[in-house]
Amino acid sequence: ALSEASAQAAAAGDAAAVEQIRIDYLGRNGLFPALSKEMGSVAPEERKETGRAFNEGRNKIQAMIDEATARLAAAPETAADAIDLSLPGRRWSCGHKHPVTIVADECANLFRRMGFIVSEGPEIEDIFHNFDALNTPMDHPSRDPQDTFYFDDGRILRTQTSPVQIRTMESHEPPVRIVAPGRVFRRDTPDATHGMNFHQIEGLYIDRNVSMADLKSVLRTFATEMYGPKVKIRLRPHFFPFTEPSVEYDFSCIMCGGKGCPVCKNSGWIEIAGAGMVDPNVLKNVGYDPEIWSGYAFGLGIERLAMLRYRIPDLRYLYENDVRFLEQF
Ligand code: PHE
Repeated sequence: ALSEASAQAAAAGDAAAVEQIRIDYLGRNGLFPALSKEMGSVAPEERKETGRAFNEGRNKIQAMIDEATARLAAAPETAADAIDLSLPGRRWSCGHKHPVTIVADECANLFRRMGFIVSEGPEIEDIFHNFDALNTPMDHPSRDPQDTFYFDDGRILRTQTSPVQIRTMESHEPPVRIVAPGRVFRRDTPDATHGMNFHQIEGLYIDRNVSMADLKSVLRTFATEMYGPKVKIRLRPHFFPFTEPSVEYDFSCIMCGGKGCPVCKNSGWIEIAGAGMVDPNVLKNVGYDPEIWSGYAFGLGIERLAMLRYRIPDLRYLYENDVRFLEQF
């Protein structure tokens, strides 16, 4: 009986088989309880010896059961529990930067390599920094509540990153060379190239003898670094209260290769920035002497740069927060 039990215990493949051995030998109707009932019929002189063999046998069975139980616990119970190396790994979905942030960082790094320092200003601005100090006439349409978000206390959501020019010059002596990326707000009707809030990166360089040629060259370098040598740039005369002369700065449309598409409204060009030579009145407003100092400023639209970079046909995709869209960057 012992060798039979030993073979069964060694072969037991799961916990149920081990339990069956226990039932067969040690259970209430098993072999050992039955043997113990027969002890009464054993001759008195043999009882001691028989009892010893009985105990020894029962202990051995118990030891076999314990061993089989331990063996099964150490190994995976069934094939279903084993590691399946052919399964694909679990995908770890990890957050990443928004395309607008990627492009803003890229611009800031590019200008940093050209000697600009990154600066920042508040999104809630006062009228002085956003308009007055920037030489904006009292009746300029951009001051209208139809165009600008006003708070009850008279402050506003900044409409441009240009107030950072003023804040920087107020707190630093010339020369200055900064870029200021950030969010701006306008009461525009959203369409493929306009949003009620968007991002700009402002640039300001003030030094002795700065000329329009310096402005043109830094913008040309920026365009080439961003989009390669094929992109064309175009400066058009324009007006801004805080620059004189002022230009608007277009890139040839990368979406259609200049042939015409909905993004460039079939013109082959896309408006990327405003720029110009800092108006002497602005320099006076911050206490710089315009006889000594001159400079240029520019404000680039980051969403439009991102549209060209990633061939996004509509700016509104950037703000719908659809992960299927955002995952692509
Ligand atoms: N602030 C202007 C705008 O928002 C852009 C600009 C910046 C123009 C600096 C000239 C100089 O359109």
